[in-house]
Amino acid sequence: MSMKRTRIALFTVALVTFCLPFGAHSAVPLTKVDPALERRIDALLARMTIEEKVGQLTMFAFGRPTGPARGNATREEQITLIKQGRVGSLIGEGFTIEIPTLTQMALTESRLGIPLLFAMDVLHGYRVIFPTPLAEAAAFDPELAERTAAMSARETAAQGLHWTFAPMIDVGRDARWGRVVEGSGEDPYLNAILGAARVRGFQGAALASEPGRVLATAKHMAAYGAAEAGRDYATVDISESTLNDVYLPPFRAAVDAGVATIMAAFHEIGGVPSSANRALLTGKLRRDWKFRGIVVSDWGSVEELVTHGYARDRRQAAKQALMAGVDIDMCSGTYLTELPKLVRARQVPMRVLNEAVRRVLRIKMGMGLFERPEQVVAAPFDTAAARALAKEAARASMVLLKNKNDLLPLHREAQRTIALVGPFIESRLEHLGAWWADGKADDVISIADAVRKRAGSKTKILQALGTDFRGKNKDIAEAVRIARQADVVVVAAGDPGWNTGENNSKVSLELSLPQRELLAALREVGKPVVLLLMSGGALAIGEQEPFLDAILLTWSSGVEAGEAVAELLFGEHAPSGRLPVTFPRATGQVPIYHARKPSGRPPGTPGGSSYTDSPADPLYPFGHGLTYTRFRYENLTVSPLAAKPGLPIHVSVQLTNEGPRSGTEVVQLYVRDEVASLTRPVKTLRRFTRVALAPGESKQVKFELSDADLGLFLPGGRFVVEPGWFTVFVGPSAAEGQQARFEVGGAQSLSGSILFSNGVMARVGQRQSTFRRTPRL
Ligand code: NOJ
Repeated sequence: MSMKRTRIALFTVALVTFCLPFGAHSAVPLTKVDPALERRIDALLARMTIEEKVGQLTMFAFGRPTGPARGNATREEQITLIKQGRVGSLIGEGFTIEIPTLTQMALTESRLGIPLLFAMDVLHGYRVIFPTPLAEAAAFDPELAERTAAMSARETAAQGLHWTFAPMIDVGRDARWGRVVEGSGEDPYLNAILGAARVRGFQGAALASEPGRVLATAKHMAAYGAAEAGRDYATVDISESTLNDVYLPPFRAAVDAGVATIMAAFHEIGGVPSSANRALLTGKLRRDWKFRGIVVSDWGSVEELVTHGYARDRRQAAKQALMAGVDIDMCSGTYLTELPKLVRARQVPMRVLNEAVRRVLRIKMGMGLFERPEQVVAAPFDTAAARALAKEAARASMVLLKNKNDLLPLHREAQRTIALVGPFIESRLEHLGAWWADGKADDVISIADAVRKRAGSKTKILQALGTDFRGKNKDIAEAVRIARQADVVVVAAGDPGWNTGENNSKVSLELSLPQRELLAALREVGKPVVLLLMSGGALAIGEQEPFLDAILLTWSSGVEAGEAVAELLFGEHAPSGRLPVTFPRATGQVPIYHARKPSGRPPGTPGGSSYTDSPADPLYPFGHGLTYTRFRYENLTVSPLAAKPGLPIHVSVQLTNEGPRSGTEVVQLYVRDEVASLTRPVKTLRRFTRVALAPGESKQVKFELSDADLGLFLPGGRFVVEPGWFTVFVGPSAAEGQQARFEVGGAQSLSGSILFSNGVMARVGQRQSTFRRTPRL
């Protein structure tokens, strides 16, 4: 059979397979070497030209000419390149309708018929938009995160797409950085747990080969959130210990969860841009963690090695990126034009090129793309089910920050007048967050519509904008007028979704000036005020907070935001979200986060670290959130008090709902290593769980810790658990709760440290060669 006929036959098989019940091929997990698959890759590699190999490493934004400095490929040029087998993947928006044609083009018109991967940024829903990842993190619920990711994957796959650039698992500790909204906040553990859950949700158990799953990308490796002054793309300069302890654990968790791809980042760390960081992308990721998937650059970041002043030209940039471990060049076209010359000149070894291509083919073959180049759609996408899940997620994400005199919930049937005010009371688009894929403003239910629908017949609703976000359309007097007639004023204000995200960093976390004026004017009216706070991260509302009666943090919560707000306002459901980021009093406090180091002069002690113009403590601590009932914590116990290596440490606490209503508490467990060879944070989150209790109900909440929860990374990257005293804290936030102590490796039980190396624990006595007692200073 001629090559062309083979390709046509292949495509026919693909179409037939498309209609067959799923299961015609088996998925290959990345964590295992499959010799048969590797032989298949060898055979294909042997037939590929250098240009075809580089093609597998080239991604374009389809139909979007990226400009002379960005790939320089027009739509027509891209089509020619696809037919030549010189493009391996496409990213884009609004091109899904062309996916079948493009697929066929690659299969039947390129020499080897290697299928294309189609990718898009689907972070929290494709068309049915869920709460932003940060908002959803406030639910402290990995199972929910997995379900929303799986639902997003289903809708994404139904468009023919194979790959999403999510989850973002960058720890975000500086609220000025606009991209905090895309991740799970300030805590490494929360980012790790939720990141792994989202990877499972997107990919399923079998590397995106089940119907309705897509490849996930853990991004951006690494420490992108530590940008100087919170400014996007800016320099990062952090210690090795901070990198290992804070920024890398979520990536390790994503790799362990089987993530197929990792994205390198735009920024540099200590003089080395991420897209050329061999220590991270090859040393850490591939050598230490055994990652076998694809590393993709960020958009144009290979070529930007030149702008960084790290590469003298595009050719050197291509060499640096590939040699560092970047497999796919996203949208810079640098690999396309430069790698063939570099390989021919033996400046880049063929072996390195082959390895990168192998990793791309491994994913393509492993997910069954050669047998099934088009996505399989198991069943029509169930929009109603997706919206129901979006509502559940929105409800679970919102955080009741303040509720003076139990102002909330409002009683639906009360004879009263509610004034609805503020820039976001009628909003739709603003609830879609920073990335909304194919989301449409018209799909969103506004707060005003949902509140009107729910308010009982005796409730009168008045409404006035007051001001828009920027004050272009402003009538504060009208808002004051209706507030005077009302019993309660509900204000929707804050930071809209489109003002957050990539390159939307801020020097001020205060509310915009017109919004501050609006709240100040409403304060003078003297009626109770409820603030519905829209945001993509922590805002500095320290000046307004004392005068507000209730604050519900609504974030940007997707298509069902309005419904969720109304349900919580009227008490159909009780809020249960908790802060995944610390709220400062003023912008000048950031970065502020719970896992800070103690310092020699801790804040809050006489002469301790402080400001002249503000208290040092946050307005609201990490983990904070109220509900419509109250919980009591008592009887914290830890056992054994002298922990032994390898044996679990049991922690339990008695939790009682002592309020009048049912409610859900997020019970949080933090640990502190009291003395260590490197100073340790005052608290490190190690466990959490959601507990629902009826009024008067009580429950013993139990946790189990292991050695791995107690360790730290030493210089050189070794992970050790040092003997000594630890404090465990259990409570409703990082600032409250019960505490107890236990000792690891007491004199009689252990003579030294417990050492983990590359994730493998070596107990004392078993691997004496790698064991080293950590010196006490
Ligand atoms: C740039 C962003 O940093 C990254 O997160 C995203 O996935 C790519 N652009 C592709 O859109």
